[in-house]
Amino acid sequence: MSPSAPTPPPRAADASRGASGRVGPDAPHDPAAARGISRRTQSEVYRAGISGTRPRVPVDAAQLKDAARRALSAEAFAYIAGGAGAERTMRANTRAFGRWQIWPRPLRDVLERDLSIDFLGRRRPTPLLLAPLGVMEMAHDDADLAVARAAASFGVPYTLSNQASFPMEAVRDAAPGGARLFQLYWSADDDLNASLLRRAEASGCEAIVVTLDTHLLGWRTRDLDLAYLPFTRGMGIAQYTSDPVFQQLVRDRVRKGPDAAAPPAAPVKLTPKTVAAGVKIARKGAALTGAGLRENLRSPLPRAAVETFLDVFSTPALTWDDLAKAREWTSLPILLKGIVHPEDASRAIDAGVDGVWVSNHGGRQIDQSVPTLEALPSVVDRVDGRVPVVFDSGVRQGSDAFIALALGATAVAIGRPYAYGLGLAGEEGVREVVRNILAELDITLGLSGHTSIAEVARDALREI
Ligand SMILES: Cc1cc2nc3c(=O)[nH]c(=O)nc-3n(C[C@H](O)[C@H](O)[C@H](O)COP(=O)(O)O)c2cc1C
Repeated sequence: MSPSAPTPPPRAADASRGASGRVGPDAPHDPAAARGISRRTQSEVYRAGISGTRPRVPVDAAQLKDAARRALSAEAFAYIAGGAGAERTMRANTRAFGRWQIWPRPLRDVLERDLSIDFLGRRRPTPLLLAPLGVMEMAHDDADLAVARAAASFGVPYTLSNQASFPMEAVRDAAPGGARLFQLYWSADDDLNASLLRRAEASGCEAIVVTLDTHLLGWRTRDLDLAYLPFTRGMGIAQYTSDPVFQQLVRDRVRKGPDAAAPPAAPVKLTPKTVAAGVKIARKGAALTGAGLRENLRSPLPRAAVETFLDVFSTPALTWDDLAKAREWTSLPILLKGIVHPEDASRAIDAGVDGVWVSNHGGRQIDQSVPTLEALPSVVDRVDGRVPVVFDSGVRQGSDAFIALALGATAVAIGRPYAYGLGLAGEEGVREVVRNILAELDITLGLSGHTSIAEVARDALREI
């Protein structure tokens, strides 16, 4: 594109621009627009600085997190930023990048740089994905809709969470041209699993990501200390309340009435907070009943939906043998998320899956778990190019993404940083976070002497 070419609409997904590494919305009338996302981003930021404007969404990863801490409620920040136990896995995930250094390689003509990759049968303009993050309504009312629009504007595939705040069909409608994957938590009810996958396929998702590491909810110290789990307030269950199979489960539960065999639930103290929680659940119940708040406050369905969800969410009884069922439920490619042990990677390949997603859930499940970056090379060796390997947990900036790609990841997924951007500035905030990571990746690619992601290999790094 020449510098004088008309500026495309900011939300247009334009995968074709990947060939020169130029992705994302262009700055209007910016001569740097033709020189790749890094020059364009630097130019945008520094030009705004001349009139005294600093980025609303901090570029520095630690400052980004601090700004989100100030902007979000204590509960929202704890839920997003927190990890399991003493949060040692979380720290180890980020620390693991410190074991690798990138070789600077000048004089190699890196004028043209290409960030594109092949992933799931298509050329993608960047090697990034957005990881599935549940309950994003805690960060911003537009939640997944805003994230989907931001992702689509860069041609970055968005992995929509099973615990999203909007039904998958609404997310499709928010960004119809955007690439989406659907993440499944394998519930205790197979009819529900099958129904969710049918909807994912019908709503245009390109693949199913089955998350395997959350068959028990991690010991989340911050959430426990605040006694706050968003699902108990009816948040993050929109995929369920919009699902016909789940709706039937809820109606059956209400019809049957209380389970006489179950031990009586501890009485809930009536406080202003109890009332606020009741109103929130009733409001969320609209998705299920189609009725207004007044009616939902009287209806048993919204509360029954929360209880049904808590009953069916995930199943610790799942085994490798069960996975075969997913093949009957969908013809989409299936990726397994939460693979860390190389033996599980081999097992996944034997099971015939279409991709392996190396993740420890950002340290939210096991405290003192193996950091994913340390496991990545051996997983890559086991997979041996047969299926794509997605990597996440601890990626905070473009140079982190570069290291994971050099260690053999096919694509790198961004998690918490985009939730912080969402909390700070909605759709625009997510866009800035993704843009900054891509810009730094583009610069790192060039300064390390590469012109494409395909060229980046382990010899780009030195282990210390
Ligand atoms: C607030 C939050 C919600 C998450 N929700 C989900 C989810 O619904 N499904 C899932 O597979 N992973 C979920 N994850 C894990 C992410 O997909 C990803 O593995 C993790 O964020 C990577 O770690 P990082 O953010 O520290 O880089 C969640 C993570 C966070 C921080």
